[in-house]
Amino acid sequence: MCGIVGVVGKPARDVLLNGLKNLEYRGYDSAGIYLNDLQGHQYLTKAVGRIKNLEAKLTPDEQGVVGIAHTRWATHGKPTVANAHPQYSSDNRFYLVHNGVIENYATLKNKYLSDVEFHSDTDTEVIVQLVDKFAREDNLPAFAAFKKVLNLVEGSYAFLLVDNTEPDHIFIAKNKSPMMLGVGDGFNIIASDAISVLDQTRTFIDLHDGDVADVTKDKIVIEDLQGNAVDRPAKELDIDPNASSKGTYEFFMLKEIDEQPAVMRRLAQDYFDGNNVKVDPAIVQAAADSDRIYILAAGTSYHAGLVGKNLLEKYTGIPVEVGLASEFGYHFPRLSKKPFFIFLTQSGETADSRVVLTQVNDRQLPSLTITNVEGSTLSREATYTMLLKAGPEIAVASTKAYTAQVAVQAILAKAVGEKLGLQVARDFDLKHQLGLAAEGMQQLVDGKEKIDELAKKYLATTRNAFYIGRGVDYAVALEGALKLKEVSYIQTEGFAAAELKHGTIALIEKGTPVVALINDPATADLTRGNIREVQSRGANVIVFAAKEFAQPGDDVVLPQIEYYLSPLVTVVPAQLLAYYASKNKGLDVDKPRNLAKSVTVE
Ligand code: G6P
Repeated sequence: MCGIVGVVGKPARDVLLNGLKNLEYRGYDSAGIYLNDLQGHQYLTKAVGRIKNLEAKLTPDEQGVVGIAHTRWATHGKPTVANAHPQYSSDNRFYLVHNGVIENYATLKNKYLSDVEFHSDTDTEVIVQLVDKFAREDNLPAFAAFKKVLNLVEGSYAFLLVDNTEPDHIFIAKNKSPMMLGVGDGFNIIASDAISVLDQTRTFIDLHDGDVADVTKDKIVIEDLQGNAVDRPAKELDIDPNASSKGTYEFFMLKEIDEQPAVMRRLAQDYFDGNNVKVDPAIVQAAADSDRIYILAAGTSYHAGLVGKNLLEKYTGIPVEVGLASEFGYHFPRLSKKPFFIFLTQSGETADSRVVLTQVNDRQLPSLTITNVEGSTLSREATYTMLLKAGPEIAVASTKAYTAQVAVQAILAKAVGEKLGLQVARDFDLKHQLGLAAEGMQQLVDGKEKIDELAKKYLATTRNAFYIGRGVDYAVALEGALKLKEVSYIQTEGFAAAELKHGTIALIEKGTPVVALINDPATADLTRGNIREVQSRGANVIVFAAKEFAQPGDDVVLPQIEYYLSPLVTVVPAQLLAYYASKNKGLDVDKPRNLAKSVTVE
């Protein structure tokens, strides 16, 4: 949720500021940086708001060859300078940045630190004060004091700690929060994700939960919490650094919307051998053996799961349940005899989803993570992984990961259905359909000016809006509404078109924008009826309709594609509508207020 970066062994200030800027998508309500020049000077600077505020506060003499930095998404305490990280011990000896949540911080505080005066409301300060206390009172070196504290801590963390009495070390620890250790030539670097520091190194060590390490400029010692040596291999990461740059685009969100046709083509290439679908046979077998599939996800990924349910049920015949991970984790339903779990997660780090996966693993049940991030926590911990191959998604509002999730679920559905010998799956010409999706998406993104006009006409001043649809259009209505509200702050609800009249239609008044989606052959006429109901109450209706159901006056005619895959194209004008509504209001499209891209707290 928060972003952390640390470096030892080279001029640290710019490396850290760049890393922070790349990590800003993880949280951006405040930021801080600690630098030590190993000549007896240490500097701490913190600022509320974006990294540029922090940069503006730094004076030229604040330099160092060791440093740790943090960009925050507040959990404990408001986004203030005092609560920003690094947190420090009262004697200014220890400095700590933290991503995660310490669950027993209040207990630790009461038990060990009743005599300490705290300067922040954070759980993190408890940890740094406690390290200081153990170091002083037990006369322990920093690494030993740190490990002693870690053995008492319950919760999630990625920690970077510096001790001003041995400042050429960064001590790090990981549990349930992402952290990568980058290996350089004469320096080492630590970050929440590898992409943020790709300009520094391509060699990374993937730390596991329970790992602690003592990192200096040319040495890395990794141990477990009991002090046993742990060996973690370094590997070269094969990521295109351009994939995480904006190029000529003003915002990542539009770049990522525009990339969707290419993602469809890549999936059609990588998951097919000629026209034959190609999925790891072990995954196909495990899913085919199941009597029920459970899809768990959060946010946009959950909406992709709702579409996946339709695809998987149609092409495999296996019943599918879709759950919000945050609910499912604490209210497990009665499971079928042979369940198969699918975790849909762009980042592979969502804490709510991980809670469910941990329980699935405890019960020794088979699971598949469908994710965009190879080596992410949920990928590592599930039995199997399928990759979205969408390239890094930087804008907080998810776009290309959603369409990739829909496509990969379709790929899985076809593979499993074929394994089960179903004719409907054999007849499903998915490779061709993904080609149609790519073409259709291209046509829609090429027509983006039209969507910009719609946004200007209907969404410039409205405070609320609706999306309506039936069947898979209902799932897209939920996603369209989420997109619009998260980036434009227009309060938007997605509704099953017919359900609106059972209460919520009371909110429709003159000028209320209602986006209606029409792809479902079974209900296209009925949805037209629902449109008339809201029109007669003054709504401004925007219609996105499939070619075969389109009528004169519809705003967007959706290119032809099979109905269950129609979300691949329907969502594109919805994404664009959200993008332009936000951009036209002058908002920061890529970093909407209060949000974070990767939510690693429950
Ligand atoms: C956050 C993001 C959403 C995303 C959700 C699930 O809330 O802001 O865009 O859909 O997390 O993330 P995941 O990485 O699990 O797909």
